[in-house]
Amino acid sequence: MRTLKVALLGCGVVGSEVARIMTTHAADLEARIGVPVELAGVAVRRAGRPRPGVPEHLITTDAEALVKRGDIDVVIEVIGGIEPARSLIVSAFENGASVVSANKALLAADGAALHAAAAKAGADLYYEAAVAGAIPLIRPLRESLAGDKVNRVLGIVNGTTNFIMDKMDTTGAGYSEALEEATALGYAEADPTADVEGFDAAAKAAILAGIAFHTRVTAADVFREGITEVTAADIASAKAMGCVVKLLAICERAKDENGEESVTARVHPAMIPLSHPLASVRGAYNAVFVEADAAGQLMFYGPGAGGAPTASAVLGDLVAVCRNKVGGATGPGESAYAQLTVNPMDDV
Ligand code: HSE
Repeated sequence: MRTLKVALLGCGVVGSEVARIMTTHAADLEARIGVPVELAGVAVRRAGRPRPGVPEHLITTDAEALVKRGDIDVVIEVIGGIEPARSLIVSAFENGASVVSANKALLAADGAALHAAAAKAGADLYYEAAVAGAIPLIRPLRESLAGDKVNRVLGIVNGTTNFIMDKMDTTGAGYSEALEEATALGYAEADPTADVEGFDAAAKAAILAGIAFHTRVTAADVFREGITEVTAADIASAKAMGCVVKLLAICERAKDENGEESVTARVHPAMIPLSHPLASVRGAYNAVFVEADAAGQLMFYGPGAGGAPTASAVLGDLVAVCRNKVGGATGPGESAYAQLTVNPMDDV
């Protein structure tokens, strides 16, 4: 079989790590996939910046032309946001490519349509990097636990807010001071709204709930309260009660009095007893509990953000979709088989 050609959309913190690992691990990737994998083009917003390890001739500012080139086997989308990412992904499918994406906002808003576009094209859509960086969660939920019944997914899925809560807890700092440090260390963006208001965690909760419960959940279905109102006094009171405060994403099955099943997904600060394993998740780390009928309780823990950890998840997906291409197969598609009611959570 010929060399598989990969187009990389985005060459920021994650994209540059993806390009670096693809180059340095080229021989290993070829051994694992069975054919060589070549970085065939890198779409960036602004050309002319130094991008160590990315050959100049691969750089283009025309992402649309790159995905429509006709010889691309896999498109890796790490530009984020809704547009142009959505149009580029759909175009990639229409042009015969499979897609690896790290785009939580897009998958949480429009995952069903993207899965439909992938299925129509007979292509793969993989997105392990969209939730909790390097931590394997999407594949365990989509594949390893597909024969079990998952009842609850609960955890810390935003590193920036966990860093802030942890800082407030360990130093007595106020919210603004802790946020300033998170920004200085590069955890929080210049505009930290998506993290501190819980939008980022809500998008991840929607993706996890949809896969875990085989239904469709969008970010708009998720009850959301961020950490901006958490004060040093709240943290001190929690401490006095033997608890820490964490921003949690909680996705659960529920049943009404008639036995009708539904799903709830919510993101809000919560007090956790120090004896609970989630209480010891420090700094910008993430951890997710999964409770399933047969498996019991599982915990996934690790770095949930950052260039290299997120690139690790992207590369794992790249290997999976390339193996599928070589084997003439496609991986798991959309998990939804039932549209369970998603509770609005007005009463939280
Ligand atoms: N801003 C996110 C976080 C990045 O802090 O967890 C990873 O999704």
